[in-house]
Amino acid sequence: MTSYRKYILWFAQEHVDFRVQEFDSLVKMFGLQVRRLTEQTLKPFWLVEFRDKEAALKYASRSVLLRAIFELYAHANNLTEFHETLRNHVDTNRHALAGYFRPDTSFKIVVETYNKHFSQREKVAKIESMDYLPIEGTVNLKNPQVEWWYIEFWGLDPTDVPPEPKDILFGRLLASGQRHLIKDLSLKQRKFIGNTSMDAQLSLLMANQAMVREGDLVFDPFVGTGSLLVSAAKWGGYVLGADIDYMMVHARCRPSRITQKVREKDESIRANLKQYGCADRYVDVVVADFSNRLWHPRISFDSIITDPPYGIREATEKVETKNSSKDNSRREDMVHYPSTSHYSLQSLYGDLLEFAARHLRLGGRLVCWLPFHREDYDPKMVPHHQYLNLLANSEQPLTGNTARRLLTYEKCSEYSSPDRSLASATQMSTLPQDFRDRYFNNDLESRKDRRMRKAEQREQGRVEMEARGKIPSNGRSKKCSLNKARFN
Ligand SMILES: C[S@@+](CC[C@H](N)C(=O)[O-])C[C@H]1O[C@@H](n2cnc3c(N)ncnc32)[C@H](O)[C@@H]1O
Repeated sequence: MTSYRKYILWFAQEHVDFRVQEFDSLVKMFGLQVRRLTEQTLKPFWLVEFRDKEAALKYASRSVLLRAIFELYAHANNLTEFHETLRNHVDTNRHALAGYFRPDTSFKIVVETYNKHFSQREKVAKIESMDYLPIEGTVNLKNPQVEWWYIEFWGLDPTDVPPEPKDILFGRLLASGQRHLIKDLSLKQRKFIGNTSMDAQLSLLMANQAMVREGDLVFDPFVGTGSLLVSAAKWGGYVLGADIDYMMVHARCRPSRITQKVREKDESIRANLKQYGCADRYVDVVVADFSNRLWHPRISFDSIITDPPYGIREATEKVETKNSSKDNSRREDMVHYPSTSHYSLQSLYGDLLEFAARHLRLGGRLVCWLPFHREDYDPKMVPHHQYLNLLANSEQPLTGNTARRLLTYEKCSEYSSPDRSLASATQMSTLPQDFRDRYFNNDLESRKDRRMRKAEQREQGRVEMEARGKIPSNGRSKKCSLNKARFN
């Protein structure tokens, strides 16, 4: 019979607000039996119990926030207790661990400290303090067969480092997380990118939140350059996208790299997937306005992952219908050239949740971003739908006063009101002001303030220079007059 075993999870200290959510999503996706022992989830080191080693390896095979996972040998809150626990563990598990300590097994011990720096000499002293370990193998720093880690956690606050480490841990490295994918899928080397392409780490996180599995059908209705399709395809999903912007879908929009003047002929979302060896996961990308119903009622997706437009770097638009067209001088027999109108975030999220409720399979997930002004944020702003459970809501700060929240919904019951109009079942308190208007109003104000401040500074400088006799009283500097004389 297998019993629970203890492991150390070592997380990257970024996107901390997404850590628990990613963990919970992967645990659910793989159906893992696990107990979380660390309560303070902001800590970069967690202790968990997995039912077996395979469960621990499965988790590490998908986590983007995990640096590495270790089989725990000892954990304590002070050094005396730590050495005692480690000694006991090695004694008690002598037979199980014998293979790692054998003369023909090369090894390495890494000393990792958090919130406290140690010199190389101090690190060696830490290793030597464990000379009771029955290691007989030879040291191999480059490619060891066994890697043990000695970890000291000195709190989270760099301005308040405690006199002693808060946690001391020792374990055997079992596996690394998937952080290498952040570099492998980096936008820097990607064939086709745009101004709003989502970075690799967040795209992978979104696909984990959506629990994308091998063979899933994944849809992004605001696909842009398809970054979210890349991560979904990397985890084995078949991907489909739509966007209102013809030039974007056909990779003919203005290049966003400053070194690039024109788009290359072979840039496309499909080329991106090919670049990462998952071209076979590409279903299609179509030009479509999300506010118009296009999809057959029976089409069903395993997940919808999307980053809707916020109206800052791209327009939030929808195609005008004949009814809503302002120009009523047009006649029926005239050729209709669709124009676009503003698509408010309110109606966009209403449509998105309603679409997800209709087109997700039961248990399927919608993962999307909601932008907001931090001072306006109220949990009531988050849209709700009677067929969707809100499972996660994590914040990513953007600028000083703006942020966005990654929302994860799961379809909890079959959709049963086919006659309802879009957005009818979405409950959402009115946003105080559209994100875009608020953003630009704020920005305009601060730009005006900035201009005033600079003008005041210039005036102050001029007065000071004048006092030093460097500026003629008409306000023009001597240098300026000299230059003018030279060109006349
Ligand atoms: C934030 S961008 C998506 C970026 C994308 N995740 C990427 O990685 O490139 C939002 C996209 O929504 C598109 N869009 C705006 N209004 C739309 C509408 N009514 N229907 C469909 N797409 C729309 C824009 O053209 C833009 O490409």
